[in-house]
Amino acid sequence: MAEKFRAMRGTHDILPEEARTWRWIEDTFAGVSGRYGYEEIRLPVFEATELFERGTGFATDVVQKEMYTFLDKKGRRLSLRPEATPSVIRAFLEHNLGRRAGVSKFFYMGPMFRYDRPGAGRYRQFHQAGVEIIGSPSPGADAEVIGVFWAFLRELGLTKLGMRINTLGCRSCRIKYSEILKDFLSDKLEALCADCKERYAKNPLRVLDCKVAACKVVIARAPDVSTILCAECVEHFDRVKACLQAAGLSFRVDPKLVRGLDYYTRTVFEVYHEAVGIENSLGGGGRYDHLVEEFGGPATPAVGFSSGLERVLLAVEAEGSARGASEAADIVFASLGEQAFIEAFTLASEARKRWRVWLEFDQRKLDRQLATAAKLGARLTAIIGDDELARGVVRIKDMASGDQIELRRQDVIAWLDNRLGGKSSE
Ligand code: HAM
Repeated sequence: MAEKFRAMRGTHDILPEEARTWRWIEDTFAGVSGRYGYEEIRLPVFEATELFERGTGFATDVVQKEMYTFLDKKGRRLSLRPEATPSVIRAFLEHNLGRRAGVSKFFYMGPMFRYDRPGAGRYRQFHQAGVEIIGSPSPGADAEVIGVFWAFLRELGLTKLGMRINTLGCRSCRIKYSEILKDFLSDKLEALCADCKERYAKNPLRVLDCKVAACKVVIARAPDVSTILCAECVEHFDRVKACLQAAGLSFRVDPKLVRGLDYYTRTVFEVYHEAVGIENSLGGGGRYDHLVEEFGGPATPAVGFSSGLERVLLAVEAEGSARGASEAADIVFASLGEQAFIEAFTLASEARKRWRVWLEFDQRKLDRQLATAAKLGARLTAIIGDDELARGVVRIKDMASGDQIELRRQDVIAWLDNRLGGKSSE
């Protein structure tokens, strides 16, 4: 079939077959976050462009190259959100959510937009699930968000996971380290790629993150942040690691891990999966102790992570851990004749209060209707023809054994209750 329209490059449809797995992943995330004491927050998909310029960071690739920015009819500069962390902080301040408790904990899920080069696990509209803790400076909070992430992935049955963690130090350590790095790079600029030359000027830390082979050679010899950390930053990082070890989470300290967003201070981390690759992390996050202040609020520390669900799905597929596809219907109602259809329609409405029911609309030949029931994986088919209608009965066929029984119409629901149990098999 020649189609007129196609989904835009970098976007994708989630078709019913896959949507079941998506629902399972999202339910698992909501379940795990709930058990850790996080409350759901739902936020708009577009915001003032300035929110991301100030939050995500003006110098980041995300803001410089990847935002979908447009003017609305009143000439306001708006952007589709490339990430949700700035929106969470905006909502936190706008609704004064900090007044409720010393520490606020939120989880969220939804589409994000980045004008990225599409490829495996890389989209322009993708989906994230994430959490943020606002109001705690404790290393225990850093370890908890990592724990939520890990528990989520383990609950999906994933085992081939790896984690890298690092610390960037507090604001003054970070500034000091940037200067040291800049010093180190100053006589090696010729060896760096064009992007890194620009990063050197705007944010030298980002050079550490470069994937270009020539830059990696230079980076390997760069001084580590650990050489300049203040005592409090060392202590904070040690305690994060101790919590993770106590919880049995395996991780590797990678002194070159910096991440692509500007707001981080102290702990940063990324989780990856063997099959999806270290370049395509399943998610990442870290501490950002100055973003609330940057948005005009009081000094308030925060920490969080986001996970890319398309990549989580790739990992689930690679490990074959997806929960078996559930059937689309428990019972199909087939009918022959107009009057019989009305009867089937009525009975199906009753059955739908408890079970998943597929009602056949067109009175096709019975074997065609039974073929649909088989395709849907239904356990039972209820059949009403003229003869059944005249006698006030319904014929029920067991799709696995082929056995058929006849029930009085008024006994059908009680019989189904017995046979299918109180609720659908979903
Ligand atoms: P991020 O590292 O920019 O962090 O994105 C988190 C995750 O989103 C990535 O690890 C990846 O799984 C997924 N992701 C990013 N871009 C794409 C893309 N183009 N296609 C598919 N998946 C993608 C953040 O967004 C921060 N908000 C994390 C955070 C929360 N930090 C503190 N709190």
